[in-house]
Amino acid sequence: MLPISRGVARYAPTVYDRGMKLFLDTANVDQVKEVAAWGVLDGVTTNPSLVLKEGHDFKKTVLAMCKHVPCVSAQVTATDFAGMKKQGEEYASWHKNVYVKVPMTTEGLKALHYFRSKGIRTNTTLIFSAAQALLAAKAGANIISPFIGRLDDIGEDGMGLIAEIMEIWHQYDFDCEVLVASTRHPVHIVKAATLGAHICTIPYEIFKKLPLHPLTDIGLQKFLKDWQGVKK
Ligand code: E4P
Repeated sequence: MLPISRGVARYAPTVYDRGMKLFLDTANVDQVKEVAAWGVLDGVTTNPSLVLKEGHDFKKTVLAMCKHVPCVSAQVTATDFAGMKKQGEEYASWHKNVYVKVPMTTEGLKALHYFRSKGIRTNTTLIFSAAQALLAAKAGANIISPFIGRLDDIGEDGMGLIAEIMEIWHQYDFDCEVLVASTRHPVHIVKAATLGAHICTIPYEIFKKLPLHPLTDIGLQKFLKDWQGVKK
């Protein structure tokens, strides 16, 4: 069976190709449990704003999520290399499913390089350009997260950035997955898959919309109504 992308490691071999990985962008454990039960969830991304919104202990939240998915991003809040190293090593010691989330700065690049040498997996956050994506991958990131919604918010083309990054990725053999972050609506998820992105992280409210279509509801109601008239 062909890999999803050259050089990009997959979490666990399966008997079928699961395509683009779907992550939940949340710090709410109940939401993770609910969507994981659908059989479609591959990971979770958290960030300090999401953790603040839920108001629960960070370590307990991350550990609870690690029971449900093989990849949970936990963001460092230090801004210098030494602080990121200390925090990241601590997070990685909590559970094998933890990915240390590192901001896209020059200190962050040093941290990505260090973590790669130690076998600690990382996700680079706050990517807004192809140059940043390239540097993070070269430094050793396992995942890069371009934020498309925030680019759209300032009148730039978020999905255009994903197209550019995927074109670059097709030229090389980076062991680094492209995660489409800051998604705002279901079309973002479909477009990300069309471009062959490896991962897409999705807020709970949008994830809940993905299985829905009004014609499915109307069709099901009719089937159930007609079944009442079937002679048994
Ligand atoms: C990704 O890891 C981030 O947590 C997230 O996608 C940011 O999205 P926002 O722009 O909606 O805050």
